Amino acid sequence: MKAWQVRFLYFVVLNAAVQYVTSLEEKQADSVFGNYLSHLKDLIEHKDDNYHPVTKFSLRTSSHPDDDLCYIVPGKPDSLAACSFNSTSKTFLIIHGWALGGMFDSWMTKLVSSLYEREQSANVIVVDWLALAQNHYGIAAQNAKAVGQEIAHFIDWIEETTNMPLKNLHLIGYSLGAHVAGFAGSHANNKVGRITGLDPAGPDFEGEHAHRRLSPDDAHFVDVLHTFTRGSLGLSIGIQQPVGHVDIYPNGGSFQPGCNLRGALEKIANHGLFAITDAVKCQHERSIHLFIDSLLNNQEAAKAYRCGSNAMFDRGMCLSCRKSRCNTVGYNIAKVRRARNVQLYTKTRASMPFRVYHYQLKIHFTSKLNRSEMEPSITVSLYGTKGESENLELKLMEKIAANKTHSFLLVTEKDIGDLLMVKFRWVDANGWSASNMLKMVSSWWSGDSDSANVEVHKIRIRAGETQQKMVFCVRESEAQSLTQEVTFVKCKDAWRRLSKRAQRKVTLEKH
Ligand SMILES: *[C@@H]1O[C@H](CO)[C@@H](O)[C@H](O)[C@H]1NC(C)=O
Ligand SMILES: *[C@@H]1O[C@H](CO)[C@@H](O)[C@H](O)[C@H]1NC(C)=O
Ligand SMILES: *[C@@H]1O[C@H](CO)[C@@H](O)[C@H](O)[C@H]1NC(C)=O
Repeated sequence: MKAWQVRFLYFVVLNAAVQYVTSLEEKQADSVFGNYLSHLKDLIEHKDDNYHPVTKFSLRTSSHPDDDLCYIVPGKPDSLAACSFNSTSKTFLIIHGWALGGMFDSWMTKLVSSLYEREQSANVIVVDWLALAQNHYGIAAQNAKAVGQEIAHFIDWIEETTNMPLKNLHLIGYSLGAHVAGFAGSHANNKVGRITGLDPAGPDFEGEHAHRRLSPDDAHFVDVLHTFTRGSLGLSIGIQQPVGHVDIYPNGGSFQPGCNLRGALEKIANHGLFAITDAVKCQHERSIHLFIDSLLNNQEAAKAYRCGSNAMFDRGMCLSCRKSRCNTVGYNIAKVRRARNVQLYTKTRASMPFRVYHYQLKIHFTSKLNRSEMEPSITVSLYGTKGESENLELKLMEKIAANKTHSFLLVTEKDIGDLLMVKFRWVDANGWSASNMLKMVSSWWSGDSDSANVEVHKIRIRAGETQQKMVFCVRESEAQSLTQEVTFVKCKDAWRRLSKRAQRKVTLEKH
């Protein structure tokens, strides 16, 4: 990594508040850092009799999710009672990331209150390592291990003091905090129940040995949400590689809907690198909001599907739930036996609730000629028992080839119930005259093989959320009409017979 690239990342990556640190301030920061480090060393080696906490453990309450009113101090059992720590209920440790501003971001309060909404009797503890997190990114990243060790010390102490079963302990770490959680888990005497990594930081951790970053070794179950694995200069802000037992990549883990990436890039072109921060925050923090969503919208849990690649997922090829291939996004994720680095994908809406409904459309195009020029623009409308979702774009990932089954992914933002009817509508494609297009495409769906020799007899659809599989046939009344819209309805139970009849009809009319 070139020095200027590193510097670029220090300023751009993970940064909520834009702050330019002059070289003079850098030196001061370094000396402050030196003091902290010696404190920390003393603390870990138990040499310091005067306890100077560097990392603080604030047990927040559901009535004051935004206030640090009571700190649990390792070595002081009285502080547990004073903060009303309940050793029989679940305990969450929330670990923040890099914090140049030296303050908690606004998501902290939201996460605390949504954890309490879900688990009323829980202990939600905010781990405050702001003192070490407000350094340059590179320095803060170096501190991750020391802070993790300090948290491990806290965990050991609380386990000894209260006999709290560690299976009830859940560490939730964001960005750099995800790796801190990993170090905490790996240094604790006994294995903690779960670590959730929310877009673990990429710079300084990508490609590192499992001991030097969050990994499945750090807890009985490690689940990870990747939301901003999009690189700048070949480096990614969130870590790209899978680092948990189960790794979920919403929207491919790169671009999150509702976050204005293009706008940010234009800003950079006009105003320089610092303008990116809002977009970075939006994408990187999306991991937290997806997790909060899963706590609050329990009934509308989003599903993610195991897939070999995001490109395959985008073609709808991975919507199966067989053999634990799918899982629930966020808090309710199911622990998968013997899993490691399992990669799951999902699409989301731009805001809460993020859940969408996934459909795979499998369409077989029959043709005598292999027409390479077919790249039409098609929209699809789905009609179901509970509602409809109209004019969804059918993304053609490749050219339509003859005698081949093509697979497409469609998502709807709302639950339309059981699918009853599908309508295809085409719009002008580049370089094609409208009439030419109309003729050619209409012949695809209608099975009128005279003009373009391309036929579509039926469409197979799999609904990801319900796992229903259905077959749709051209509505016979429309079979020969040259409209800009073609309707497919559920083939009757005897769809085989029907479709044969439809085919015979077409064949007869050819002669
Ligand atoms: C501690 O939590 C448990 C549930 O986990 C609950 O039944 C119990 O009442 C709580 N104790 C106190 C003192 O609040
Ligand atoms: C597609 O299959 C049909 C019959 O199965 C055949 O007549 C036609 O030549 C094939 N098309 C191409 C491009 O191979
Ligand atoms: C049609 O062309 C595509 C590539 O454009 C090729 O992959 C496919 O095998 C061809 N199909 C037939 C039946 O020749």
